[in-house]
Amino acid sequence: MFTLFCPCLLGAAVTEAFKYLGGIPCKVPNFVGRKGQCATVMEKLNASDSCRIVSITGPPGFGKSAVAIQVGHELIAQGKTNVFYISLRNLTSMNGMMNSLLGALQIVASGEQLIQQAKHCLRTLTKHSVIILDNAEDMLLPQVKDEFCHFIETVAETTPHVKVLITSRQSITFFTVEMFELRLVSLCPDHAKELLLKLESRVSQEHAEQLAYHCGGVPLVLRTTAALLAKGVDAGALINEFQMSPVSTLKSFSLNSLSHNHQLFNCLGICFSRLEPDQQVALISLAVFPMSFTVSDAQFLLRDLSAYKLGMLLQDLVDNSMLQFDCLLKQYYVHNIIQSFCIDRVHQESDLQPPYQSAKKLFNTHYLGMLKELYALFLSKKCCQAVHKFLMSRRNIRQALQDSLADPDLDELCIDTAVEVAPFLAKVFRKEKFLSVYGQFTDACKRAGNKKRYSDCLTMEAYCILSHCACHLPCPPAVARFKEADAIQRELGDDSSIVRAFCLSKLGRCFGQSKDLEKAIPLIRKAIDIREKVHKDRIFTAVAYKDLGGKAVINLCCWVKGHPVLNKVHIHSYYMYMNKVS
Ligand SMILES: Nc1ncnc2c1ncn2[C@@H]1O[C@H](COP(=O)(O)OP(=O)(O)O)[C@@H](O)[C@H]1O
Ligand SMILES: [Mg+2]
Repeated sequence: MFTLFCPCLLGAAVTEAFKYLGGIPCKVPNFVGRKGQCATVMEKLNASDSCRIVSITGPPGFGKSAVAIQVGHELIAQGKTNVFYISLRNLTSMNGMMNSLLGALQIVASGEQLIQQAKHCLRTLTKHSVIILDNAEDMLLPQVKDEFCHFIETVAETTPHVKVLITSRQSITFFTVEMFELRLVSLCPDHAKELLLKLESRVSQEHAEQLAYHCGGVPLVLRTTAALLAKGVDAGALINEFQMSPVSTLKSFSLNSLSHNHQLFNCLGICFSRLEPDQQVALISLAVFPMSFTVSDAQFLLRDLSAYKLGMLLQDLVDNSMLQFDCLLKQYYVHNIIQSFCIDRVHQESDLQPPYQSAKKLFNTHYLGMLKELYALFLSKKCCQAVHKFLMSRRNIRQALQDSLADPDLDELCIDTAVEVAPFLAKVFRKEKFLSVYGQFTDACKRAGNKKRYSDCLTMEAYCILSHCACHLPCPPAVARFKEADAIQRELGDDSSIVRAFCLSKLGRCFGQSKDLEKAIPLIRKAIDIREKVHKDRIFTAVAYKDLGGKAVINLCCWVKGHPVLNKVHIHSYYMYMNKVS
Protein backbone atom coordinates (compact mmCIF):
# COMPACT_ATOMS: atom_id res chain seq x y z
CA MET A 1 0.00 0.00 0.00
CA PHE A 2 2.56 2.55 1.06
CA THR A 3 4.87 1.97 -1.85
CA LEU A 4 1.94 2.53 -4.17
CA PHE A 5 1.40 5.93 -2.63
CA CYS A 6 2.05 8.43 -5.41
CA PRO A 7 4.02 11.59 -4.57
CA CYS A 8 2.78 13.51 -7.64
CA LEU A 9 -0.83 12.91 -6.76
CA LEU A 10 -0.18 14.00 -3.20
CA GLY A 11 1.66 17.01 -4.53
CA ALA A 12 -1.50 18.08 -6.35
CA ALA A 13 -3.52 17.71 -3.16
CA VAL A 14 -0.98 19.78 -1.27
CA THR A 15 -0.96 22.57 -3.84
CA GLU A 16 -4.75 22.62 -3.91
CA ALA A 17 -4.85 22.88 -0.12
CA PHE A 18 -2.39 25.73 -0.04
CA LYS A 19 -4.30 27.61 -2.69
CA TYR A 20 -7.16 27.54 -0.26
CA LEU A 21 -5.00 28.52 2.69
CA GLY A 22 -2.76 31.04 1.01
CA GLY A 23 -3.41 34.42 -0.50
CA ILE A 24 -3.72 37.87 0.95
CA PRO A 25 -6.84 38.55 3.05
CA CYS A 26 -9.43 40.90 1.62
CA LYS A 27 -9.02 44.66 1.97
CA VAL A 28 -9.85 46.13 5.36
CA PRO A 29 -13.32 47.65 5.01
CA ASN A 30 -13.65 51.33 5.95
CA PHE A 31 -9.90 51.71 6.27
CA VAL A 32 -9.18 55.18 7.64
CA GLY A 33 -6.07 57.28 8.13
CA ARG A 34 -2.57 55.76 7.94
CA LYS A 35 -2.01 57.41 4.55
CA GLY A 36 1.44 58.72 5.44
CA GLN A 37 2.47 55.43 7.05
CA CYS A 38 1.27 53.37 4.07
CA ALA A 39 3.07 55.69 1.64
CA THR A 40 6.31 55.39 3.61
CA VAL A 41 6.09 51.60 3.73
CA MET A 42 5.33 51.46 -0.02
CA GLU A 43 8.34 53.65 -0.74
CA LYS A 44 10.64 51.44 1.33
CA LEU A 45 9.33 48.33 -0.38
CA ASN A 46 9.91 49.80 -3.81
CA ALA A 47 12.52 47.90 -5.86
CA SER A 48 14.64 51.03 -6.23
CA ASP A 49 14.94 51.69 -2.48
CA SER A 50 17.95 50.18 -0.70
CA CYS A 51 15.87 49.11 2.32
CA ARG A 52 15.51 45.29 2.49
CA ILE A 53 13.20 44.69 5.44
CA VAL A 54 10.27 46.74 6.73
CA SER A 55 8.69 46.02 10.07
CA ILE A 56 5.42 47.36 11.42
CA THR A 57 5.29 47.12 15.19
CA GLY A 58 2.91 48.19 17.93
CA PRO A 59 0.43 46.84 20.49
CA PRO A 60 -2.28 44.37 19.49
CA GLY A 61 -5.41 45.73 17.85
CA PHE A 62 -3.66 48.89 16.65
CA GLY A 63 -3.92 47.97 12.97
CA LYS A 64 -0.51 46.53 12.06
CA SER A 65 -2.03 43.76 9.98
CA ALA A 66 -4.50 46.24 8.49
CA VAL A 67 -1.66 48.48 7.27
CA ALA A 68 0.30 45.51 5.88
CA ILE A 69 -2.78 44.20 4.06
CA GLN A 70 -3.60 47.64 2.71
CA VAL A 71 -0.02 48.04 1.44
CA GLY A 72 -0.17 44.54 -0.07
CA HIS A 73 -3.31 45.41 -2.02
CA GLU A 74 -1.87 48.71 -3.21
CA LEU A 75 1.28 46.94 -4.44
CA ILE A 76 -0.82 44.35 -6.27
CA ALA A 77 -2.90 47.14 -7.84
CA GLN A 78 0.26 48.83 -9.14
CA GLY A 79 1.06 45.58 -10.96
CA LYS A 80 4.84 45.76 -10.58
CA THR A 81 5.19 43.51 -7.56
CA ASN A 82 4.32 39.95 -6.63
CA VAL A 83 2.87 39.85 -3.15
CA PHE A 84 3.00 36.71 -1.03
CA TYR A 85 1.11 36.85 2.25
CA ILE A 86 1.78 34.49 5.15
CA SER A 87 0.06 34.71 8.51
CA LEU A 88 2.45 33.50 11.19
CA ARG A 89 -0.25 33.66 13.84
CA ASN A 90 0.51 31.00 16.47
CA LEU A 91 3.44 29.63 14.48
CA THR A 92 6.45 28.91 16.64
CA SER A 93 8.70 26.78 14.46
CA MET A 94 10.82 27.37 11.41
CA ASN A 95 9.42 24.32 9.69
CA GLY A 96 5.87 25.51 10.27
CA MET A 97 6.80 28.85 8.79
CA MET A 98 8.58 27.21 5.82
CA ASN A 99 5.51 25.08 5.12
CA SER A 100 3.36 28.21 4.99
CA LEU A 101 5.91 30.14 2.95
CA LEU A 102 6.30 27.36 0.39
CA GLY A 103 2.53 27.04 0.33
CA ALA A 104 2.15 30.76 -0.45
CA LEU A 105 4.71 30.33 -3.24
CA GLN A 106 2.59 27.38 -4.48
CA ILE A 107 5.51 25.01 -4.02
CA VAL A 108 5.14 21.57 -2.51
CA ALA A 109 7.38 21.22 0.51
CA SER A 110 9.64 18.23 -0.03
CA GLY A 111 12.33 16.55 2.00
CA GLU A 112 13.74 17.68 5.28
CA GLN A 113 15.66 20.72 4.09
CA LEU A 114 12.67 23.05 4.07
CA ILE A 115 14.69 26.15 4.86
CA GLN A 116 17.08 25.43 1.99
CA GLN A 117 14.17 24.72 -0.32
CA ALA A 118 12.43 27.98 0.61
CA LYS A 119 15.63 30.01 0.16
CA HIS A 120 16.21 28.38 -3.20
CA CYS A 121 12.67 29.14 -4.37
CA LEU A 122 12.95 32.75 -3.28
CA ARG A 123 16.29 33.11 -5.07
CA THR A 124 14.76 31.93 -8.31
CA LEU A 125 12.04 34.60 -8.31
CA THR A 126 12.65 36.96 -11.18
CA LYS A 127 9.98 39.61 -10.54
CA HIS A 128 10.19 42.11 -7.70
CA SER A 129 8.39 40.43 -4.80
CA VAL A 130 7.26 41.34 -1.32
CA ILE A 131 6.74 38.67 1.30
CA ILE A 132 4.36 39.80 4.02
CA LEU A 133 4.99 37.94 7.27
CA ASP A 134 2.00 38.99 9.33
CA ASN A 135 1.67 38.53 13.11
CA ALA A 136 5.24 37.34 13.57
CA GLU A 137 5.34 37.75 17.35
CA ASP A 138 5.47 34.05 18.14
CA MET A 139 8.45 33.61 15.83
CA LEU A 140 10.27 36.16 17.99
CA LEU A 141 10.05 34.02 21.12
CA PRO A 142 13.52 33.12 22.44
CA GLN A 143 13.49 29.48 21.27
CA VAL A 144 13.08 30.36 17.61
CA LYS A 145 13.99 34.04 17.31
CA ASP A 146 17.64 33.58 16.27
CA GLU A 147 16.83 31.10 13.54
CA PHE A 148 13.95 33.24 12.31
CA CYS A 149 16.05 36.40 12.17
CA HIS A 150 18.92 34.55 10.51
CA PHE A 151 16.55 33.29 7.82
CA ILE A 152 15.07 36.73 7.16
CA GLU A 153 18.50 38.30 7.05
CA THR A 154 19.87 35.71 4.62
CA VAL A 155 16.83 36.12 2.39
CA ALA A 156 17.26 39.89 2.47
CA GLU A 157 20.95 39.61 1.63
CA THR A 158 20.85 36.91 -1.01
CA THR A 159 17.59 37.34 -2.88
CA PRO A 160 17.82 40.53 -4.88
CA HIS A 161 14.19 40.57 -5.95
CA VAL A 162 12.66 39.89 -2.57
CA LYS A 163 11.80 42.33 0.21
CA VAL A 164 10.20 41.37 3.48
CA LEU A 165 7.42 43.15 5.35
CA ILE A 166 6.93 41.90 8.92
CA THR A 167 4.27 42.85 11.44
CA SER A 168 4.79 42.12 15.10
CA ARG A 169 3.90 43.40 18.54
CA GLN A 170 7.55 43.24 19.41
CA SER A 171 9.95 45.84 18.13
CA ILE A 172 12.34 44.50 15.49
CA THR A 173 15.50 46.51 15.08
CA PHE A 174 18.18 43.89 15.28
CA PHE A 175 18.84 43.08 11.62
CA THR A 176 22.21 43.99 10.20
CA VAL A 177 20.81 44.61 6.71
CA GLU A 178 19.15 47.93 5.96
CA MET A 179 15.70 48.00 7.46
CA PHE A 180 12.94 50.37 8.37
CA GLU A 181 10.69 50.11 11.40
CA LEU A 182 7.29 51.74 11.47
CA ARG A 183 6.03 51.99 15.03
CA LEU A 184 2.31 52.22 14.85
CA VAL A 185 0.55 54.39 17.40
CA SER A 186 -3.19 54.52 17.90
CA LEU A 187 -5.31 56.50 15.42
CA CYS A 188 -5.27 60.26 15.93
CA PRO A 189 -8.51 61.69 17.43
CA ASP A 190 -9.75 62.86 14.03
CA HIS A 191 -9.24 59.50 12.34
CA ALA A 192 -10.65 57.62 15.33
CA LYS A 193 -13.75 59.79 15.14
CA GLU A 194 -13.89 59.34 11.36
CA LEU A 195 -13.83 55.54 11.76
CA LEU A 196 -16.66 55.63 14.33
CA LEU A 197 -18.74 57.86 12.07
CA LYS A 198 -18.03 55.72 9.02
CA LEU A 199 -19.17 52.64 10.88
CA GLU A 200 -22.17 54.31 12.49
CA SER A 201 -23.27 57.54 10.90
CA ARG A 202 -26.21 58.16 13.28
CA VAL A 203 -23.97 59.07 16.21
CA SER A 204 -23.48 62.80 16.85
CA GLN A 205 -20.12 64.49 16.21
CA GLU A 206 -19.74 65.26 19.88
CA HIS A 207 -20.48 61.74 21.03
CA ALA A 208 -18.20 60.31 18.37
CA GLU A 209 -15.42 62.53 19.62
CA GLN A 210 -15.87 61.45 23.24
CA LEU A 211 -16.15 57.77 22.38
CA ALA A 212 -13.07 57.98 20.16
CA TYR A 213 -11.24 59.38 23.18
CA HIS A 214 -12.45 56.59 25.49
CA CYS A 215 -11.46 53.96 22.94
CA GLY A 216 -7.96 55.37 22.98
CA GLY A 217 -7.95 55.55 19.18
CA VAL A 218 -7.42 51.77 19.06
CA PRO A 219 -9.03 50.49 15.83
CA LEU A 220 -10.07 47.15 17.29
CA VAL A 221 -11.94 48.81 20.15
CA LEU A 222 -13.36 51.52 17.93
CA ARG A 223 -14.87 48.75 15.81
CA THR A 224 -16.44 46.89 18.75
CA THR A 225 -17.79 50.18 20.11
CA ALA A 226 -19.17 51.24 16.72
CA ALA A 227 -20.84 47.82 16.48
CA LEU A 228 -22.71 48.53 19.73
CA LEU A 229 -23.85 51.89 18.42
CA ALA A 230 -24.98 50.29 15.18
CA LYS A 231 -27.10 47.90 17.23
CA GLY A 232 -28.88 50.88 18.71
CA VAL A 233 -27.04 51.15 22.06
CA ASP A 234 -27.33 54.75 23.25
CA ALA A 235 -24.07 56.66 22.78
CA GLY A 236 -24.59 58.74 25.94
CA ALA A 237 -25.15 55.65 28.08
CA LEU A 238 -22.06 54.04 26.63
CA ILE A 239 -19.97 57.11 27.40
CA ASN A 240 -21.21 56.99 31.01
CA GLU A 241 -20.19 53.38 31.26
CA PHE A 242 -16.71 54.15 29.96
CA GLN A 243 -16.40 56.97 32.48
CA MET A 244 -17.49 54.77 35.37
CA SER A 245 -14.86 52.06 34.86
CA PRO A 246 -11.98 53.09 37.06
CA VAL A 247 -8.55 52.19 35.79
CA SER A 248 -7.62 50.41 39.06
CA THR A 249 -10.03 47.52 38.42
CA LEU A 250 -8.46 46.65 35.08
CA LYS A 251 -6.80 43.28 34.55
CA SER A 252 -3.14 43.10 33.84
CA PHE A 253 -2.28 41.41 30.62
CA SER A 254 1.19 40.26 29.79
CA LEU A 255 1.71 41.77 26.39
CA ASN A 256 4.11 44.57 25.68
CA SER A 257 2.13 47.69 26.28
CA LEU A 258 0.38 47.18 29.58
CA SER A 259 -1.38 50.49 29.87
CA HIS A 260 -3.01 50.09 26.49
CA ASN A 261 -3.92 46.53 27.20
CA HIS A 262 -5.59 47.56 30.43
CA GLN A 263 -7.62 50.02 28.53
CA LEU A 264 -8.32 47.47 25.81
CA PHE A 265 -9.59 44.87 28.25
CA ASN A 266 -11.75 47.41 29.95
CA CYS A 267 -13.28 48.61 26.70
CA LEU A 268 -13.74 45.08 25.40
CA GLY A 269 -15.40 44.14 28.70
CA ILE A 270 -17.98 46.85 28.15
CA CYS A 271 -18.70 45.59 24.65
CA PHE A 272 -18.72 41.94 25.73
CA SER A 273 -21.20 42.55 28.53
CA ARG A 274 -23.63 43.94 25.98
CA LEU A 275 -23.64 40.77 23.92
CA GLU A 276 -26.59 38.41 24.30
CA PRO A 277 -25.78 35.46 26.62
CA ASP A 278 -25.79 33.01 23.68
CA GLN A 279 -23.40 35.26 21.77
CA GLN A 280 -21.09 35.44 24.79
CA VAL A 281 -21.03 31.66 25.10
CA ALA A 282 -20.48 31.24 21.36
CA LEU A 283 -17.58 33.68 21.37
CA ILE A 284 -15.98 31.99 24.38
CA SER A 285 -16.37 28.63 22.60
CA LEU A 286 -14.95 29.88 19.30
CA ALA A 287 -11.92 31.25 21.13
CA VAL A 288 -10.66 27.64 21.33
CA PHE A 289 -9.74 27.69 17.63
CA PRO A 290 -6.01 28.40 17.43
CA MET A 291 -6.40 29.84 13.93
CA SER A 292 -9.05 30.73 11.42
CA PHE A 293 -12.05 28.48 10.91
CA THR A 294 -14.95 28.03 8.52
CA VAL A 295 -18.68 27.80 9.28
CA SER A 296 -18.53 24.05 8.96
CA ASP A 297 -15.60 23.92 11.39
CA ALA A 298 -17.72 25.86 13.88
CA GLN A 299 -20.73 23.60 13.42
CA PHE A 300 -19.52 20.84 15.72
CA LEU A 301 -18.76 23.30 18.53
CA LEU A 302 -22.19 24.93 18.44
CA ARG A 303 -23.96 21.76 17.40
CA ASP A 304 -27.29 22.63 19.01
CA LEU A 305 -27.78 25.34 16.42
CA SER A 306 -29.16 24.76 12.97
CA ALA A 307 -26.90 25.79 10.09
CA TYR A 308 -29.08 28.87 9.60
CA LYS A 309 -28.94 29.91 13.27
CA LEU A 310 -25.20 29.32 13.38
CA GLY A 311 -24.73 31.53 10.35
CA MET A 312 -26.79 34.25 12.03
CA LEU A 313 -24.87 33.96 15.27
CA LEU A 314 -21.50 34.18 13.52
CA GLN A 315 -22.75 37.17 11.57
CA ASP A 316 -23.91 38.80 14.83
CA LEU A 317 -20.45 38.34 16.30
CA VAL A 318 -18.88 39.76 13.14
CA ASP A 319 -21.30 42.69 13.30
CA ASN A 320 -20.22 43.21 16.88
CA SER A 321 -16.59 43.14 15.68
CA MET A 322 -15.86 40.40 18.19
CA LEU A 323 -15.19 38.00 15.33
CA GLN A 324 -13.31 38.78 12.14
CA PHE A 325 -14.41 37.46 8.80
CA ASP A 326 -12.35 37.28 5.65
CA CYS A 327 -14.75 37.38 2.75
CA LEU A 328 -12.07 36.32 0.27
CA LEU A 329 -11.01 33.20 2.12
CA LYS A 330 -14.47 32.69 3.67
CA GLN A 331 -12.87 32.16 7.04
CA TYR A 332 -13.53 33.52 10.50
CA TYR A 333 -11.03 34.19 13.23
CA VAL A 334 -11.00 35.52 16.74
CA HIS A 335 -8.41 38.29 16.95
CA ASN A 336 -5.58 37.43 19.35
CA ILE A 337 -6.50 40.14 21.78
CA ILE A 338 -10.15 39.08 21.84
CA GLN A 339 -9.00 35.49 22.33
CA SER A 340 -6.84 36.57 25.29
CA PHE A 341 -9.72 38.65 26.57
CA CYS A 342 -12.06 35.62 26.38
CA ILE A 343 -9.64 33.42 28.29
CA ASP A 344 -9.22 36.13 30.91
CA ARG A 345 -13.00 36.42 31.14
CA VAL A 346 -13.34 32.67 31.66
CA HIS A 347 -10.94 32.95 34.61
CA GLN A 348 -12.93 35.82 36.07
CA GLU A 349 -16.46 34.57 35.55
CA SER A 350 -17.24 31.14 36.88
CA ASP A 351 -20.41 30.98 34.73
CA LEU A 352 -18.27 30.96 31.62
CA GLN A 353 -16.00 28.14 32.73
CA PRO A 354 -18.31 25.19 31.94
CA PRO A 355 -19.04 26.33 28.36
CA TYR A 356 -15.37 27.01 27.74
CA GLN A 357 -14.23 23.66 29.17
CA SER A 358 -16.93 21.87 27.24
CA ALA A 359 -15.90 23.65 24.02
CA LYS A 360 -12.32 22.57 24.61
CA LYS A 361 -13.38 18.96 25.10
CA LEU A 362 -15.59 19.05 22.03
CA PHE A 363 -12.77 20.57 20.01
CA ASN A 364 -10.31 17.90 21.13
CA THR A 365 -12.63 14.94 20.61
CA HIS A 366 -13.76 16.31 17.27
CA TYR A 367 -10.26 16.57 15.86
CA LEU A 368 -9.17 13.25 17.33
CA GLY A 369 -12.23 11.72 15.65
CA MET A 370 -11.36 13.50 12.43
CA LEU A 371 -7.91 11.94 12.52
CA LYS A 372 -9.47 8.48 12.58
CA GLU A 373 -11.73 9.36 9.66
CA LEU A 374 -8.81 10.74 7.69
CA TYR A 375 -6.86 7.58 8.36
CA ALA A 376 -9.70 5.43 7.02
CA LEU A 377 -9.83 7.67 3.96
CA PHE A 378 -6.08 7.39 3.57
CA LEU A 379 -6.30 3.62 3.53
CA SER A 380 -9.02 3.74 0.91
CA LYS A 381 -8.37 4.77 -2.66
CA LYS A 382 -8.90 8.40 -1.64
CA CYS A 383 -5.58 9.01 0.02
CA CYS A 384 -5.14 12.38 -1.73
CA GLN A 385 -8.41 13.59 -0.25
CA ALA A 386 -7.17 12.52 3.17
CA VAL A 387 -3.96 14.52 2.78
CA HIS A 388 -5.85 17.53 1.47
CA LYS A 389 -8.29 17.49 4.37
CA PHE A 390 -5.46 16.98 6.83
CA LEU A 391 -3.63 20.04 5.53
CA MET A 392 -6.75 22.14 5.97
CA SER A 393 -7.11 21.15 9.60
CA ARG A 394 -3.54 20.40 10.58
CA ARG A 395 -3.23 23.22 13.12
CA ASN A 396 -6.46 22.19 14.82
CA ILE A 397 -5.43 18.55 14.81
CA ARG A 398 -2.07 19.34 16.34
CA GLN A 399 -3.69 21.54 18.95
CA ALA A 400 -6.10 18.72 19.83
CA LEU A 401 -3.26 16.19 20.11
CA GLN A 402 -1.40 18.55 22.41
CA ASP A 403 -4.33 19.67 24.56
CA SER A 404 -5.98 16.31 25.05
CA LEU A 405 -2.77 14.83 26.40
CA ALA A 406 -3.06 17.38 29.21
CA ASP A 407 -6.71 16.47 29.87
CA PRO A 408 -7.09 13.51 32.27
CA ASP A 409 -10.40 12.59 30.58
CA LEU A 410 -8.88 12.47 27.12
CA ASP A 411 -5.22 11.53 27.48
CA GLU A 412 -5.74 7.80 26.92
CA LEU A 413 -8.09 8.36 24.00
CA CYS A 414 -5.53 10.75 22.55
CA ILE A 415 -2.65 8.24 22.82
CA ASP A 416 -4.75 5.36 21.49
CA THR A 417 -5.90 7.46 18.55
CA ALA A 418 -2.37 8.60 17.83
CA VAL A 419 -1.15 4.99 17.88
CA GLU A 420 -3.96 3.86 15.62
CA VAL A 421 -3.38 6.57 13.01
CA ALA A 422 0.42 6.54 13.25
CA PRO A 423 0.94 5.13 9.71
CA PHE A 424 -0.96 8.16 8.39
CA LEU A 425 0.74 10.77 10.56
CA ALA A 426 4.13 9.22 9.74
CA LYS A 427 3.42 10.20 6.12
CA VAL A 428 1.95 13.65 6.61
CA PHE A 429 4.16 14.88 9.45
CA ARG A 430 7.83 15.37 8.95
CA LYS A 431 9.90 12.85 10.90
CA GLU A 432 11.00 15.47 13.46
CA LYS A 433 7.45 16.67 14.00
CA PHE A 434 6.18 13.11 14.36
CA LEU A 435 8.89 12.23 16.87
CA SER A 436 8.37 15.40 18.89
CA VAL A 437 4.59 14.80 19.10
CA TYR A 438 4.84 11.05 19.79
CA GLY A 439 7.82 11.58 22.07
CA GLN A 440 5.48 13.44 24.42
CA PHE A 441 3.07 10.50 24.38
CA THR A 442 5.88 8.02 25.01
CA ASP A 443 7.18 10.08 27.94
CA ALA A 444 3.69 10.48 29.41
CA CYS A 445 3.11 6.69 29.29
CA LYS A 446 6.51 6.02 30.81
CA ARG A 447 5.84 8.47 33.64
CA ALA A 448 2.43 6.91 34.27
CA GLY A 449 3.95 3.39 34.24
CA ASN A 450 1.53 2.41 31.47
CA LYS A 451 3.56 -0.36 29.84
CA LYS A 452 1.06 -1.30 27.14
CA ARG A 453 0.72 2.22 25.80
CA TYR A 454 4.43 2.89 26.30
CA SER A 455 5.26 -0.07 24.03
CA ASP A 456 2.58 1.09 21.54
CA CYS A 457 4.20 4.50 21.31
CA LEU A 458 7.70 3.05 21.03
CA THR A 459 6.53 0.85 18.16
CA MET A 460 5.09 3.81 16.32
CA GLU A 461 8.17 5.98 16.87
CA ALA A 462 10.28 3.13 15.49
CA TYR A 463 7.89 2.69 12.57
CA CYS A 464 8.21 6.38 11.67
CA ILE A 465 12.02 6.30 11.87
CA LEU A 466 12.09 3.19 9.69
CA SER A 467 9.69 4.56 7.12
CA HIS A 468 11.73 7.74 6.69
CA CYS A 469 15.02 5.91 6.46
CA ALA A 470 16.53 5.71 3.01
CA CYS A 471 19.48 3.43 3.77
CA HIS A 472 19.51 -0.31 3.13
CA LEU A 473 20.37 -1.29 6.67
CA PRO A 474 17.89 -0.89 9.53
CA CYS A 475 18.33 2.27 11.60
CA PRO A 476 19.72 1.52 15.05
CA PRO A 477 17.27 3.92 16.80
CA ALA A 478 14.34 2.13 15.14
CA VAL A 479 15.66 -1.32 15.98
CA ALA A 480 16.32 -0.35 19.60
CA ARG A 481 12.75 0.88 19.99
CA PHE A 482 11.26 -2.18 18.27
CA LYS A 483 13.28 -4.48 20.51
CA GLU A 484 12.25 -2.66 23.68
CA ALA A 485 8.60 -2.70 22.57
CA ASP A 486 8.86 -6.38 21.63
CA ALA A 487 10.23 -7.27 25.07
CA ILE A 488 7.39 -5.43 26.81
CA GLN A 489 4.74 -6.98 24.57
CA ARG A 490 6.11 -10.44 25.30
CA GLU A 491 6.16 -9.65 29.03
CA LEU A 492 2.53 -8.52 28.82
CA GLY A 493 1.60 -11.65 26.88
CA ASP A 494 0.32 -9.65 23.93
CA ASP A 495 0.24 -11.84 20.86
CA SER A 496 -2.77 -10.59 19.00
CA SER A 497 -3.01 -6.80 18.99
CA ILE A 498 -2.56 -4.73 15.84
CA VAL A 499 0.42 -2.98 17.37
CA ARG A 500 1.96 -6.35 18.21
CA ALA A 501 1.61 -7.37 14.56
CA PHE A 502 3.20 -4.08 13.54
CA CYS A 503 6.12 -4.57 15.87
CA LEU A 504 6.69 -8.20 14.79
CA SER A 505 6.47 -7.41 11.11
CA LYS A 506 8.79 -4.42 11.20
CA LEU A 507 11.27 -5.96 13.62
CA GLY A 508 11.31 -8.97 11.31
CA ARG A 509 11.98 -6.69 8.38
CA CYS A 510 14.91 -5.13 10.27
CA PHE A 511 16.34 -8.61 10.90
CA GLY A 512 15.83 -9.35 7.22
CA GLN A 513 17.73 -6.23 6.30
CA SER A 514 20.57 -7.40 8.55
CA LYS A 515 20.44 -10.71 6.61
CA ASP A 516 19.32 -12.62 9.70
CA LEU A 517 16.53 -14.60 8.06
CA GLU A 518 16.36 -17.16 10.84
CA LYS A 519 14.90 -14.45 13.06
CA ALA A 520 13.15 -12.43 10.38
CA ILE A 521 10.84 -14.96 8.76
CA PRO A 522 9.14 -16.40 11.89
CA LEU A 523 8.44 -12.89 13.23
CA ILE A 524 6.86 -11.70 10.02
CA ARG A 525 4.91 -14.94 9.59
CA LYS A 526 3.48 -14.42 13.09
CA ALA A 527 2.52 -10.86 12.15
CA ILE A 528 0.80 -12.11 9.00
CA ASP A 529 -1.09 -14.65 11.10
CA ILE A 530 -2.35 -11.96 13.50
CA ARG A 531 -3.41 -9.70 10.66
CA GLU A 532 -5.00 -12.40 8.55
CA LYS A 533 -6.74 -14.38 11.25
CA VAL A 534 -7.39 -12.03 14.14
CA HIS A 535 -7.95 -8.72 12.44
CA LYS A 536 -8.78 -9.86 8.92
CA ASP A 537 -7.02 -6.77 7.72
CA ARG A 538 -6.31 -6.98 3.99
CA ILE A 539 -4.07 -3.96 3.57
CA PHE A 540 -1.85 -4.59 6.55
CA THR A 541 -1.60 -8.26 5.72
CA ALA A 542 -0.36 -7.12 2.32
CA VAL A 543 2.13 -4.81 4.00
CA ALA A 544 3.39 -7.69 6.11
CA TYR A 545 3.83 -9.81 2.96
CA LYS A 546 5.78 -6.94 1.55
CA ASP A 547 7.98 -6.93 4.65
CA LEU A 548 8.47 -10.65 4.14
CA GLY A 549 9.58 -10.21 0.58
CA GLY A 550 11.43 -7.00 1.48
CA LYS A 551 14.17 -5.51 -0.59
CA ALA A 552 17.03 -6.80 1.50
CA VAL A 553 15.57 -10.29 1.44
CA ILE A 554 15.40 -10.03 -2.32
CA ASN A 555 18.98 -8.87 -2.40
CA LEU A 556 19.93 -11.77 -0.23
CA CYS A 557 18.17 -14.15 -2.61
CA CYS A 558 20.40 -12.90 -5.38
CA TRP A 559 23.40 -13.05 -3.14
CA VAL A 560 22.76 -16.68 -2.09
CA LYS A 561 22.43 -17.58 -5.76
CA GLY A 562 19.41 -19.63 -6.64
CA HIS A 563 18.58 -20.34 -2.98
CA PRO A 564 15.32 -22.27 -3.50
CA VAL A 565 13.67 -21.48 -0.15
CA LEU A 566 14.45 -17.78 -0.34
CA ASN A 567 13.23 -17.49 -3.89
CA LYS A 568 10.03 -19.21 -2.88
CA VAL A 569 9.53 -16.83 0.04
CA HIS A 570 10.11 -13.85 -2.16
CA ILE A 571 7.92 -14.93 -5.06
CA HIS A 572 5.13 -16.04 -2.75
CA SER A 573 5.20 -12.81 -0.73
CA TYR A 574 5.27 -10.68 -3.82
CA TYR A 575 2.30 -12.59 -5.22
CA MET A 576 0.39 -12.27 -1.94
CA TYR A 577 1.21 -8.57 -1.66
CA MET A 578 -0.02 -7.79 -5.16
CA ASN A 579 -3.04 -9.94 -4.60
CA LYS A 580 -4.01 -8.16 -1.38
CA VAL A 581 -3.56 -4.63 -2.70
CA SER A 582 -5.22 -5.72 -5.94
N1 LIG B 1 -6.87 52.16 9.81
C1 LIG B 1 -7.89 51.34 10.05
N2 LIG B 1 -9.13 51.66 9.60
C2 LIG B 1 -10.16 50.86 9.84
N3 LIG B 1 -10.10 49.72 10.53
C3 LIG B 1 -8.91 49.35 11.01
C4 LIG B 1 -7.76 50.15 10.80
N4 LIG B 1 -6.71 49.55 11.40
C5 LIG B 1 -7.20 48.42 11.93
N5 LIG B 1 -8.51 48.30 11.72
C6 LIG B 1 -9.38 47.18 12.20
O1 LIG B 1 -9.10 46.97 13.58
C7 LIG B 1 -9.03 45.60 13.88
C8 LIG B 1 -7.66 45.25 14.45
O2 LIG B 1 -6.67 45.52 13.47
P1 LIG B 1 -5.43 44.55 13.18
O3 LIG B 1 -4.79 45.05 11.95
O4 LIG B 1 -5.83 43.14 13.23
O5 LIG B 1 -4.52 44.89 14.45
P2 LIG B 1 -3.11 44.27 14.86
O6 LIG B 1 -2.56 43.57 13.67
O7 LIG B 1 -2.30 45.46 15.25
O8 LIG B 1 -3.39 43.38 16.01
C9 LIG B 1 -9.33 44.87 12.59
O9 LIG B 1 -10.70 44.56 12.59
C10 LIG B 1 -9.03 45.87 11.52
O10 LIG B 1 -9.80 45.65 10.38
MG1 LIG C 1 -2.07 41.54 13.46
